[in-house]
Amino acid sequence: MDRISSDAFVLFGATGDLAHKKIFDTLHTMVRRGHLDIPVIGVAKSGMTTEQVRARALEGIQKFGANGVDQAAFEKLMSRFTYIDGDYADPATFTAVKRALGAAEHPIHYLAIPPSLFGSVATSLQASGCATGARVIVEKPFGHDRDSAIALNADLHAAFDEKNVFRIDHYLGKEAVQNILYFRFANAFLEPIWNRTHVKSIQIVMAEQFGVQGRGRFYDATGCIRDVMQNHLMQVLAFLCMEPPDWRDMERTRDEQVKFFRSVRTIETQNVVRGQFNGYLQEDGVAPGSTMETGAAMQLAVDNWRWSGVPIYLRAGKNMPFTCTEVRVELHRAPGVVFFEAQPPAHNAIRFRLSPRIEIGIQAEVKTEGERMIGEPLELLAIDQQNDEMTPYERLFGDAIKGDSALFARQDAVEECWRIFDPILGNAVPVHQYDIGTWGAAITREWLLPEGGWHIPTKPASA
Ligand code: BG6
Repeated sequence: MDRISSDAFVLFGATGDLAHKKIFDTLHTMVRRGHLDIPVIGVAKSGMTTEQVRARALEGIQKFGANGVDQAAFEKLMSRFTYIDGDYADPATFTAVKRALGAAEHPIHYLAIPPSLFGSVATSLQASGCATGARVIVEKPFGHDRDSAIALNADLHAAFDEKNVFRIDHYLGKEAVQNILYFRFANAFLEPIWNRTHVKSIQIVMAEQFGVQGRGRFYDATGCIRDVMQNHLMQVLAFLCMEPPDWRDMERTRDEQVKFFRSVRTIETQNVVRGQFNGYLQEDGVAPGSTMETGAAMQLAVDNWRWSGVPIYLRAGKNMPFTCTEVRVELHRAPGVVFFEAQPPAHNAIRFRLSPRIEIGIQAEVKTEGERMIGEPLELLAIDQQNDEMTPYERLFGDAIKGDSALFARQDAVEECWRIFDPILGNAVPVHQYDIGTWGAAITREWLLPEGGWHIPTKPASA
């Protein structure tokens, strides 16, 4: 069933937070664009009536939706929506799902529920016949470390083949992230310099101006490294560094990602700094005296022909000065021999801004007007205004329904990423405090300082 489209969408966790904030909005936007015309079955144990679930969905779209409510699209979605209120531990719930599926032969089940329930829900889907010919979508985090990721996967595989498991890492669905891959391989000028001979270092920074946003309980069990670095930033890094995939075969992209992850050295504790913003311990849901990190910086090394010896730095954190995710690929300096002045030209660099808007900048040196042979930096800049672009969720739901798995995390990639991070999880590295609204200067200690310093993005106009 590789390319057979799913003919029903079953949403487990239909009254949960993710459905409220994101999933219904995405589904209704897909209907608006004409990208979704299959029945949607919501399942949850909430005690709500179908009418109440509909009202909650509408309220979620109004409050959190990317572009507000499109009334016609919402009504169309709701005309195909049914709701089943039932306990996940009760076989009758799954009998009801089977009944609601009617003639559908290839449903897609979205498990927007805690991972601890994946195993029992997968088993019940299997036992009720709902898993036959079906696909399943799950959300990150895919496990807590390598061992738990393997166990979680075994739970899913009890009912679904790997090719029918769609693990969402929404960074893979981002236009800006795909743009990295496209820009690299669609432009002939980049390939000759995209290697250790010309690249001096790579930095990726993901700064968020906000804190844990009421998700203290989740965050305190997760932390910055597991929340965004082991998955989102590693996906960005793979697109930056992997070998060219054969796009005609979706598995080849994932093969190249995994090949790259295999060449990333397991991180050692001395290459990591962890930080926690002052005030974190007062957040709801955070354990007293918690040592969970809300920011981290680290250096990675890659043992392959292209990148050997090129230091890679990742940095992420909550409560930083503004929200911005950016990549900076710095090139070696041109030799200063033709310049009479003492100062050699600055490093060239390629800058990919992934959010809040998409930018690609090529940083060059040009001569300053006048008699002296001195220069100044200039950036050639391309900006994407993103008018009504598909959100990552829309793109990924659409791909999963079509059975296109290229932009989903495959199990071997997930396990490799855990292998890279496993030794630095938990309290393997001490945590330092940093002030809200700072770059976490205290967390980027002198023993982990890139030559030339940490890259500080320019503040976006919108921030
Ligand atoms: C989520 C994390 O996966 O990604 C959040 O759980 C984080 O903590 C978010 O804020 C960032 O996503 P985006 O698309 O806003 O950069």
